[in-house]
Amino acid sequence: MRGLEIIPSGIEGLDQVIGGGFIRGRTYLVSGETGTGKTLFSLNFLVYGITLGDKGVYVLVDESVEDLMRGAKDFGWDLEALVDRGFLSILTLSQEAMEKLSTKPLDTIVRSIVVDIKSEVEKIGASRLVIDPVISLVFQEKDVVWMREFIRRLIMSIENEVKCTTIITSEIPTNSNSISRFGVEEFLASGVLVLGLQRIGDEYIRTLLVRKMRWRPVKPSIYVFEIVPGKGIVVKGRLREYIKTLPIPIA
Ligand SMILES: Nc1ncnc2c1ncn2[C@@H]1O[C@H](COP(=O)(O)OP(=O)(O)O)[C@@H](O)[C@H]1O
Ligand SMILES: [Mg+2]
Repeated sequence: MRGLEIIPSGIEGLDQVIGGGFIRGRTYLVSGETGTGKTLFSLNFLVYGITLGDKGVYVLVDESVEDLMRGAKDFGWDLEALVDRGFLSILTLSQEAMEKLSTKPLDTIVRSIVVDIKSEVEKIGASRLVIDPVISLVFQEKDVVWMREFIRRLIMSIENEVKCTTIITSEIPTNSNSISRFGVEEFLASGVLVLGLQRIGDEYIRTLLVRKMRWRPVKPSIYVFEIVPGKGIVVKGRLREYIKTLPIPIA
């Protein structure tokens, strides 16, 4: 049996702290409250992958492609050029499409989404995939049991049939202590990264909690990161080391 193939995440400073990178073909969860950097993290993973020859598919849920392209361009990423050259494909699961699907049985919904994703992945020969976020707003009406089952089947079908290294994002409600929206994503994912903001004195710093890395010798730890235009997410070091460098001791 072959060993696990580790690929660079593309996030500066991250691979050293997660045991070398992501395991090829597995699914990783990036969760956090709104504005914590999930979308930038996901795009960073794809844009960097392209420089290594890994094509990418970005599945956009509940957001317009134009908004994403415009935001990314301001940030320093020309997604349009990557799409034109066939390195990147952006697939939208629009609210209308999800609304139409939402009355169907769960299996039908999962099948339909996976078929669309698989065909896009095969069309360009992608090996990296992002679903941002994994649950459409349309499904907020469903109960938690339904959501869990949906996420479970979706992740399993993607791992079995699509075979990309995948990032799914999940938005956690503000001020909740959970690490994922439905409490199931973390069990299914091979790794869990929780993005957050931490108040220190009168400033907020961005934090990244490495919560779980299956099969990697990694202890859960909190790191500080920055968002750097043109580059993406830059992991700086451990939070506790950062705190030591501050001029005033924090109680
Ligand atoms: N050009 C930029 N320079 C620095 N920070 C930026 C830039 N653009 C966006 N950000 C930061 O990124 C945050 C949004 O990140 P995003 O990945 O969209 O979050 P999420 O997907 O978790 O809601 C913004 O709140 C802002 O603080
Ligand atoms: Mg986002």
